[in-house]
Amino acid sequence: MYSITKQFINDLEVSIISVKRDLIQFSCMNYGATILDIIVPDKNGIMENVVMKYHDLNSYDHDEMYLNAIIGPTSGRIKDAEFTLGKTNYSLDKNFIHTHNIHGGEESFAFQLFEYQVEELDEETNIIFTFFKDANYSRYPGDQNIKITYKITDTALEIDFFGTTNQDTLLNMTNHAYFNLSGNMKKSILDHVLYVNASRYLSLDSEFIPTDLVSTKNTFLDFLTPTLIKDNMTAEVRKLPTKGIDHPFILDDSDYTVVQAKLTDEQSKRSLSVYTTYPSIVIYTHNFPDGLKLEHNMPQVSQMGICFETQFEPNGIHVPNAHQAILLKDQVYHQKTLYQFSVEE
Ligand code: GLA
Repeated sequence: MYSITKQFINDLEVSIISVKRDLIQFSCMNYGATILDIIVPDKNGIMENVVMKYHDLNSYDHDEMYLNAIIGPTSGRIKDAEFTLGKTNYSLDKNFIHTHNIHGGEESFAFQLFEYQVEELDEETNIIFTFFKDANYSRYPGDQNIKITYKITDTALEIDFFGTTNQDTLLNMTNHAYFNLSGNMKKSILDHVLYVNASRYLSLDSEFIPTDLVSTKNTFLDFLTPTLIKDNMTAEVRKLPTKGIDHPFILDDSDYTVVQAKLTDEQSKRSLSVYTTYPSIVIYTHNFPDGLKLEHNMPQVSQMGICFETQFEPNGIHVPNAHQAILLKDQVYHQKTLYQFSVEE
């Protein structure tokens, strides 16, 4: 079953698409293809939201947390907001500390109205979002035809990211969902247990720019053994410029059948397994709350959510041996990410 309602974000009319299946209630809107609710059961069958949500819909307007939105054309930072393809230099918006590009610039996909279609089948409901980026938009080269599909089954959300271009370009899309398995943001994610299939990550310079491929061994980013997040978020880690985890993890296996990250809340027993065709996941522990009220008028404190931003390595175009996220003219971009929910025994 699904329904569509119209609401306003300031003066902009948006559509809210709500899907109800046996064990999941999902809702999203066409502004940024942003997820609003993923309501799943805990160990007692209690249905609660496992993503962060703002109290006021207007808070999503050009939201600097990119709460649960689709990010593009590129995710993460690009050093000096510049890159070269062939013989052409491109410069993008410097929307991070007036120096670097972040999350596709001022006109990020997160801030666009997508066209949509809903397709309801026995085993799944598909929400198909499309967006046409013309060649001048945000100064990324090429006309890009973007399609994002949210497939909702009883226990999972699967996202397909598609794109084509008529000119060589950069494309590196992700979803910026902030998960919190306690349900309705009852407590922070510090008591969640995290596993990440990554023995390497990209180190960051003082301006959060990914630079070098290094080992996670003996660092606060080693989650090869499932670990309580708070055990790795030491006072020292909180003093870093990032104030927590905000790093690209390089996945050890590029295999869609492998669990690349797993998050568990011991209290509710809810668990989230992340699968992806992308080679890396930026994990962000919500270190910079923007002060806007969360659902039910709750104040926002740090570590209320954790993002698994599956993507090609951010800034890959400037990092030796990283994926550059170049999409050539007439090539097809297709990547997939699966967020699978379950209740642990
Ligand atoms: C990503 C970045 C963070 C932050 C958030 C959005 O996770 O890596 O530094 O910008 O997006 O607030």
